[in-house]
This record gives sequence, structure tokens and C-alpha cells, in this order.
Amino acid sequence: MRKRVVILSGSGLSAESGLPTFRDAAGLWRQHAWQDLASPDGWRANPALVLEFYNERRARAWSAQPNAAHLAIAALESKYDVVVVTQNVDALHERAGSTKVLHVHGELSYARGTGTGRKRYRIDGAPIELGQLCEEGTQLRPDIVWFGEDTQFMPEARDQVASADKVLVVGTSLSVYPAASLVDSARGDAEKILNALEMDAVPRGFVFHAGPATRVVPRIIEEWLK
Ligand code: APR
Repeated sequence: MRKRVVILSGSGLSAESGLPTFRDAAGLWRQHAWQDLASPDGWRANPALVLEFYNERRARAWSAQPNAAHLAIAALESKYDVVVVTQNVDALHERAGSTKVLHVHGELSYARGTGTGRKRYRIDGAPIELGQLCEEGTQLRPDIVWFGEDTQFMPEARDQVASADKVLVVGTSLSVYPAASLVDSARGDAEKILNALEMDAVPRGFVFHAGPATRVVPRIIEEWLK
């Protein structure tokens, strides 16, 4: 039986691919009000502003490349049964070669209607314009989980974490729930490692490795592949 590894990733993992985090000094929520751009109220108040924000983020994410940390995580599949649970909305894990990725906060490369249907449409790096409708005739919006909306795949993600032999948390401040609570499902006997530039409170049982993911993650994975 191959051992099971779960990766819990956040925006810090994609920082060295040129994509901004949210709460660091140059983070998105330091420059913008999340209430205006990442909430149902903000969407209702000014959909054009929200579409512009995500069109810019989508174009940037689409032209970004996976970094050494993404690639090392994908390489783990040569020896382990790996599931990536990511808060990231970019496609860099898949581009690096990871085959099992759960996007709990949605994906930039998809759009969906605003009606009950919720059908998703693959749009890659393309913009969404006001007036673009789904087949039910409702305005298309980014397929992103906004504050106040339900996080996706949580029961499956929790089961995956609870059955993992090793858990590696990378590039997340663990400040947004329920995604941050996934660390609590890790088994007591599992190997648990957390990498970030800095961390206020390291979850119990996790060993903290400070430093850039492109330096720290390949080193950890090299050990695990030995
Ligand atoms: N290497 C490793 N970690 C890094 C790097 C790096 N190069 N750069 C930043 N970090 C770490 C920071 O130390 C911080 O702990 O990444 C974390 C980024 O935290 P946040 O900005 O809070 O981002 P994240 O945890 O991904 O946000 C969670 O919040 O706004 C919502 O939906 C959004 O999914 C997002 C969620």
C-alpha cells in the first residue's frame, strides 16, 4: 500500500510564481476591500468592478508558471498517493503535474451562472464581460467562493486529511475558515509539517519550517522520496 500524503496549500505557494498573497505587506486585501470584491454584496453593488478585478487576476494567473515547490509536490506522486487540497484559485498545481487537486475556494479558469443551475464553463484565461449570460440567461460570474459562501469539497478534504500518513501545509496563514480547520483533522501519528515565511500560531503537532516555499518544500520532499 502506498503511503498517503495530503498537501494543504495557500497563496504563499504561488507567490514565487508572481501571484499576490492576500494578507502579506503587498497582499490583495491590503490594497483592496474584500467586501467590495469578494462578497455577494460587493457583486450586487458593482458587478463591473468585481469582473474587472477577477479578469486581471485570471490573466495574470493564466500566464504564470509553476515554481519549484509546485513541481516537487507533483513529483511526490512517483512514490505516494497524493491529494492536494488548495485554497488557491490558480491552476499551477495541475500545470506542475499534480493529478488530484481539490480547489476548496473555486477556480479562476471557470465561470458560472448566477441562477440556481450553477453550471460551470471553462474559460481558461479569458475575461468575463457584463452581459455574458449562462444558458439559463443569467449573468456569468467567476467560479470563486466568496466570503459568506459555502467552501467546496470540505467533507472529502477532511476525510483525506484524516487518513493521511503525512500532511504538508504550505503558504497559508490559516486565517480563513472552514479551510483552516482542516489541520485539526490530521492524525496524531501522522508526520505534520508547515511551511510559511512567518506564522503567528503553529497548529499543534506541526513542525514549522520558515522560509520561501521554493527552497523549503523541495528539501522536505527530497527527504520523503528517499
Ligand atoms: N513561501 C512560503 N510561504 C509564503 C511565501 C513564500 N514565498 N510568501 C508568503 N508566504 C506565506 C505567508 O507567510 C502567509 O502565512 O503565505 C501565507 C499567505 O497568507 P494569506 O495572505 O492569508 O493567504 P491564504 O492563507 O492563502 O488566504 C486564505 O483567504 O482571502 C481568502 O480566499 C482567499 O484562499 C484565500 C484565503
